[in-house]
Amino acid sequence: MCGIIGYIGNKDVLSIIISGLKRLEYRGYDSCGVGFVEEKQLKILKTKGRIEKLQKKIEKTNTKIAVGHTRWATHGVPIEENAHPHTDCQNRFAVVHNGIIENYESLKKILIKEGHIFRSETDSEVIVHLIEKFYNGNLKEAVKKTLSQIVGSYGLIVLDKQQMVVSRKGSPIVIGVGENEFFVASDISAIIEHTKDIVYLEDYEIAVINENGYSIISKDDQLVEKEIQKIKISLEQIEKGNYKHFMLKEIFEQPTTIKNSLAGRIDLNNLTAKLGGLEEVLTQEPLKKIKRIMILACGTSWHCGLVAKYILEKYTRIPVDVDYASEFRYRNPVIDSSVLTIVISQSGETADTLSALREAKEKGSLVLGVVNVVGSTIARESDCGVYTRAGVEIGVASTKAFTSQLVVMFLISLYIGRKINTITDSQAKEIIENLEKISRKIKIVLKDAENIKAIAEKYKNSNNFLYLGRGINYPLALEGALKLKEISYVHAEGYPAAEMKHGPIALVDENMPCFFIANKDQNYEKVISNMNEIKTRGGKIISIATEKEIEDLSDEIVYVPKTLEVLSPFVNVVVLQLFAYYISDFLKRDVDKPRNLAKSVTVE
Ligand code: F6R
Repeated sequence: MCGIIGYIGNKDVLSIIISGLKRLEYRGYDSCGVGFVEEKQLKILKTKGRIEKLQKKIEKTNTKIAVGHTRWATHGVPIEENAHPHTDCQNRFAVVHNGIIENYESLKKILIKEGHIFRSETDSEVIVHLIEKFYNGNLKEAVKKTLSQIVGSYGLIVLDKQQMVVSRKGSPIVIGVGENEFFVASDISAIIEHTKDIVYLEDYEIAVINENGYSIISKDDQLVEKEIQKIKISLEQIEKGNYKHFMLKEIFEQPTTIKNSLAGRIDLNNLTAKLGGLEEVLTQEPLKKIKRIMILACGTSWHCGLVAKYILEKYTRIPVDVDYASEFRYRNPVIDSSVLTIVISQSGETADTLSALREAKEKGSLVLGVVNVVGSTIARESDCGVYTRAGVEIGVASTKAFTSQLVVMFLISLYIGRKINTITDSQAKEIIENLEKISRKIKIVLKDAENIKAIAEKYKNSNNFLYLGRGINYPLALEGALKLKEISYVHAEGYPAAEMKHGPIALVDENMPCFFIANKDQNYEKVISNMNEIKTRGGKIISIATEKEIEDLSDEIVYVPKTLEVLSPFVNVVVLQLFAYYISDFLKRDVDKPRNLAKSVTVE
């Protein structure tokens, strides 16, 4: 949530900050601000709304140091006063902060009693007043004392006239190293056009950065020497190219991202998956002791978990539970060392998933992370893991990350199943051969985008949708409904098709289109019965089909290529993604930055 950038150097400081903020805008976009030094004074400019508005307020300046922030409101409504940076009473320090200060109310009361004047309703403002209180000529020491008083999470930059002091706990921060210039960001996409040399800050570390260089101290006050890592992301990956929106680009990238997720990970000799991140930890011995698998995730990643339950149970015969990370944590879950926990997260920073991971670990469970963002907190805190390699996902609605997560869940199932001998050679061969064809099949679905667009245009004014599917495609019904809701603000519900007659069928009339995932699989005949139940009640049916025979039952039909039943979610989800995308675009919604949302939910 929220985005942070800082810069010290000789280039055009504020244009670096503004272009960085634009790249971070997908992380939060209800207000924004910059802080910089001009004529030895700290200057702050803020606005409600998007970065473009802020940009208009900026005039030429020769500052050498600045910070910027784009906000997703948690405490305090999105107004200019609540936008960051926040300053102390004497305007000596400016703070930009991601995360939540849980004890801010009690700290604020004390600070007000001591005479500090607060100008916002945010939790973040207490940080800068605490710094003011503790400042004794040494900013780093004041920051250290401040952080010791804070309960919660933070990624922050404190700016004074010649330096930035930076720290993190539970919210990512990286330092970018250029030639005689230094960057700080909450997300590397903000700075990769300037440098690929990155230093990852760990929780509780504090970095002091000025024009001569940077130094990092650990929690116990020791100087830390950190390796500079070269990151591989290219600028092209974070730009829209010729696509109208990032979401559309990311949907169309899926044939490639799926290939990337598979690349080099199949061992054809032994008909298994080669997953370097598991091999040392998840050997045959611990695997044989696993009695249950617990999958924890949120949102679209949780839907991937639901699909993965079918795959893992089919191929490993180990029972699988899937839980919302946010629910798991607060019910004293029954979990111990006989349970393998799999956490799935695109960002690797989702606060609920991270807390659930820690809870599972504390209870003795081995944690396997399936994460997209390299070096993210969930990736680092998992005992072992597999990166999904979907590349940077910028559209707030998750698309390509989902299909890459699915690929990885197949690979993990194959890996475990072969280790514990629940997958035969012929089954393994079948999975591998069909997985390798999935990319091509998705290309076929993408070629039908105009048809899907035409259907979306026809239904763009419907106010409610029902998404129905069975078996492995039931989670896809949930995913289709979620995609539509989040980017078009149209109400949609996903249901297992057979459950529909236990209640939701009462909603069905000519104004309630029902999206059926109706591939020819083991549930096909049953799904056709459910379609008939809708049809006889005057409902409109949009089907995702593999056979012509349901054409008469359907008001609209989208054909997808046949594949193994377990692999059908790959082709079906692309139709659902495109449909949601086109509805949203027809309704002129802000597809990549839907209201009230932000990429990466780092608050609980
Ligand atoms: C939906 C969406 C969210 C995320 C959820 C988990 O399109 O993007 O539902 O899937 O917030 O995020 P990660 O996967 O980053 O943990």
